[in-house]
Amino acid sequence: MPEPSPKPAFNRKNPLLAKRKLCRLLTEGCHEKDTWHLDISLLGSGLEFTPGDSLAVLPQNNPKLVDELILTLGFTGDEMVSTPAKEEAPLRQALTDNYVITVPDKKLLKAILEKAGATEWQHLLDADKKTELADYLWGREIIDLLLAHPLVKFQPSEFVGLLKKLNVRLYSVASSLAHCPDEVHLTVAVVEYESFGRQRQGICSSWLAERIDDDTPISCFITPGKGFRLPDPEDSTPIIMCGPGTGIAPFRAFLQERKATKALGKAWLFFGEIHETTCYFYKDEWDSHLADDTLTKITTAWSRDQEKKVYIQHKILEHGAEFWEWLEQGAIFYVCGDAERMAPDVDKALRTIIQQHGGKSEDESNAYVEQMQNDKRYRRDVY
Ligand SMILES: Cc1cc2nc3c(=O)[nH]c(=O)nc-3n(C[C@H](O)[C@H](O)[C@H](O)COP(=O)(O)OP(=O)(O)OC[C@H]3O[C@@H](n4cnc5c(N)ncnc54)[C@H](O)[C@@H]3O)c2cc1C
Ligand SMILES: NC(=O)c1ccc[n+]([C@@H]2O[C@H](COP(=O)([O-])OP(=O)(O)OC[C@H]3O[C@@H](n4cnc5c(N)ncnc54)[C@H](OP(=O)(O)O)[C@@H]3O)[C@@H](O)[C@H]2O)c1
Repeated sequence: MPEPSPKPAFNRKNPLLAKRKLCRLLTEGCHEKDTWHLDISLLGSGLEFTPGDSLAVLPQNNPKLVDELILTLGFTGDEMVSTPAKEEAPLRQALTDNYVITVPDKKLLKAILEKAGATEWQHLLDADKKTELADYLWGREIIDLLLAHPLVKFQPSEFVGLLKKLNVRLYSVASSLAHCPDEVHLTVAVVEYESFGRQRQGICSSWLAERIDDDTPISCFITPGKGFRLPDPEDSTPIIMCGPGTGIAPFRAFLQERKATKALGKAWLFFGEIHETTCYFYKDEWDSHLADDTLTKITTAWSRDQEKKVYIQHKILEHGAEFWEWLEQGAIFYVCGDAERMAPDVDKALRTIIQQHGGKSEDESNAYVEQMQNDKRYRRDVY
């Protein structure tokens, strides 16, 4: 028998060039946000992953912004410049594929202010003015800095030397190979906001959702989510999953995997979004998982369906007694999604439940959570 050929190792230097199979808006009719479901074909690639992993994706910049930068800088786009990999490429290509052309940093601001001889913002460059600098840069893009200083001129290679390398973005895998072979699914929220009178978009989320088609090569590889793993299927430990917004993605993969492996143990899913009618991602799938007991329970929070915001931690607290029971049965608590606001609030709710329903003091509840962490029963994948 011939030896099986080794699996290709895809990584940053040797990414898989995959193609999109399907793209579906999950927030149809919602005016506040666009979140998309993507199926990417892995057919014949040999790329493998485990629920809890993330797909690293290298995007391209928006060509309209590339054009605007080239025009503003007085270049043609054909000038040859160095890429971060020290290869030579035409400026237009390098600005499209290799450099961050949106969010500026101190190095670029410093160069512009020096060339402009501008004194008004010089103090932002002082070592003790980090907060003021961050406040000034927040919401401003490179194009704003250039338009504000129209007399500043750069050589093409000098300009790209001031830019950061365009890096991969991570997306939690939202499918299981056991359930959807030869595919990886993603749940992607488009980062969009308005600042200083202009409409802005995040590079990768807008590329995946709006600028690629089914023939665009998607440069990608898997990054393992080491701590974010399911118990073995024959292990009857209960699991509680908290995934508002795109935080739902790994739990879709978890539940597909549990269905395929006929996993034992109870599973409780907490999901939150803006509106029930327009943002109930994957509802049919949860219904099917509930029907065959892959999922024991789902609890939802719709933040803007009533006057006062209702968030997932409010629902966790509302179900505090049962949540405590599950914890005492040894449940693993998984949290995925927003790191800045949601994860700390959910953490507070967890500690409150331990105090209120476990009859513990604040110190004891902190010790309980620490023990959960040591036992790998409190796992977070937040961004
Ligand atoms: C482990 C992991 C898993 C992830 N999983 C998912 C997932 O499943 N789905 C998902 O959608 N995302 C996920 N993310 C986030 C994802 O990696 C990207 O960070 C996200 O898509 C934004 O990338 P972008 O290139 O579109 O935006 P970028 O071009 O990186 O733009 C983001 C930047 O825009 C600026 N900005 C954003 N909002 C504002 C504002 N209101 N005002 C001013 N400036 C602002 C900030 O400087 C911010 O850093 C995950 C991240 C990690 C680390
Ligand atoms: N790196 C990036 O730039 C990037 C890219 C994509 C997403 N994100 C961030 O990642 C996070 C995830 O975005 P998402 O689209 O998946 O969903 P999200 O913005 O986290 O929203 C999902 C739900 O959580 C609610 N929510 C807001 N604050 C909360 C809190 N403190 N506790 C609990 N729930 C809360 C939201 O309500 P309301 O909105 O009604 O308050 C909404 O109903 C967001 O913070 C988003 O800005 C960042």
